[in-house]
Parts: sequence; structure tokens; C-alpha cells
Amino acid sequence: MAVRQESHALPGAHLDWEKMPGHWLLARLGKRVLRPGGLELTRAMLDGLDISPRDTVVELAPGLGTTARLALARAPASYVGVERDEAAVASTRRYLRPGRDDCRRGVAANTELPDAFASVLYGEAMLTMQTTPQKEAIVREARRVLRSGGRYGIHELAIAPDDLAVAEKEAIQRELSDAIHVGARPLTVGEWRELLEGAGFRILQTTTAPMHLLHPTRILADEGLAGALRFAANVARTPAAWRRLGEMRSMFRKHEARLCAVMFVAEAVS
Ligand SMILES: C[S@@+](CC[C@H](N)C(=O)[O-])C[C@H]1O[C@@H](n2cnc3c(N)ncnc32)[C@H](O)[C@@H]1O
Repeated sequence: MAVRQESHALPGAHLDWEKMPGHWLLARLGKRVLRPGGLELTRAMLDGLDISPRDTVVELAPGLGTTARLALARAPASYVGVERDEAAVASTRRYLRPGRDDCRRGVAANTELPDAFASVLYGEAMLTMQTTPQKEAIVREARRVLRSGGRYGIHELAIAPDDLAVAEKEAIQRELSDAIHVGARPLTVGEWRELLEGAGFRILQTTTAPMHLLHPTRILADEGLAGALRFAANVARTPAAWRRLGEMRSMFRKHEARLCAVMFVAEAVS
């Protein structure tokens, strides 16, 4: 079934609707904001990171480039994105300033950037999908690439409360992973904090928001009226996507009380 396509190739475009990761399914249907706390938490993160023309900015996993665009509106000295998906690299490159910025294909745990290269580094909706050792490696890499006093922002999915029984936590992680077809391992807010502190960061700001990625009001707020209508039209004409979306929505709804979005801004200290 034809979905209104954009002129550039979208990530995951070659995959079957039934199999593709949830974030690329949403992207293919026209959704541009793919992080759990929506644009509101993204803006809070960018405010907390306080990006200015003095800053050298690195983004891990920029995806379609939605936040890169907002970060570049703050006119940093330079921007580098490191993203493992080739089509996503191409998507982010559309927003970059020639000669000043770059988006390269690579992995977040080994960016190949020099030590203390950046004054600001952030990544959204990219740690949740990693295993514990991968999360630790990426946060260590963030600390290596940031100079002391630099700011690190993350915006991820969290499980609440902090003392939720392990069995319940694991059940949520399993159901999430099954629905979005990506290994999803959200941590509690306390565990995210420990992950950052353990790698040499001091937490400056913690903000949570409801996990409303697929709520109509959030879709409208994130995508605007035209984007929300285009998304709805694409869903309506694609039965396989409609089915997948239904599964994702019912799983998010089932665990709504146990899931939230969390954003941290931290300072590189030791
Ligand atoms: C859910 S999307 C989020 C994209 C973007 N940060 C956003 O919030 O819209 C996850 C992104 O992380 C990228 N990604 C996942 N693991 C990665 C890794 N180890 N290194 C670089 N990119 C990674 C994927 O290719 C994808 O673009």
C-alpha cells in the first residue's frame, strides 16, 4: 500500500511493515518526533544544555535530524552527528551548515572523535535500546569526548517507580521489545542517574514527562496539524502499519502508569 513518500529515502524503507523497528515504522508514516517525551522535553534538554555560539556540539544518533535542526538554530560553533543508519545520516545532513557541521556514519560507543572534543553532547531515544554493557560503553564514550565542565543531555524512556519488582520490570521490557521489534531496556530514573554518575557526570537537571508518544494530543503538539493529518492519512491507508501501531499503542497504554520519559542534563566532572 502506498504511503506518501518524501524525496529522500527514509530509514527502514526496505523493511517489511511487520518487521521494521517501531521508530522507523513511525518515521515511514510521516512522524518526525521519535523520542518518548516529545518536543517539549527536547526543548527542555536544549535549554538545560544552554547551547551558544561558543559550543562544539556532538549528537549521538540524530535519526531524522529533528533535534539537530533545533540545536543548530542556537548557532553553535560546530555540530557533529554520529549515527549508525545510513539513510538517517543523509536525513540529518539536510539541516547542516556546509563547511561547519558534519554527520557521519558510526557507532555511539566508538565515535572516533578526539578526547575532550565537545563542550556539549547529547543523545535521545538511543540508550534505551542498548544492553547494559552497551549503555555503559556509550556513556563512557560521551564522557571521553566531552571536556571537563562540558554538558551531557539524555532523553530516554524510564520505568517507575525506582523500587519496582525485578520480575515486573523485566515483563515490561519484554512486552515493549516484542511490540516495537527492538530490544527495549528502559531503566528506572534512579538507574539512569547511577549510569551517568558512574561514568563521571554530576546531574544538574532531571525532568520527567508522561510517555505519550502515540497520544493524539502529543502527536498534534509534536507534528503540528498538517503533520498529524498526514500521519493519520498514511496510517489509514496502510493496514499492516495500522495493526502494528495498534499493538504498540495498546502496550504503551497497558503500562502507562509504569512508563515515563526522562531527561537529564549532567556536567562532566571527573
Ligand atoms: C528511536 S531513534 C531516535 C532518533 C533521534 N535521536 C530522535 O530522538 O528522533 C534511534 C536512533 O538511534 C540510532 N542508533 C541506535 N543505536 C546506535 C548506535 N549504537 N550508534 C549510533 N546510532 C545508533 C538509530 O539508527 C536511530 O537513528
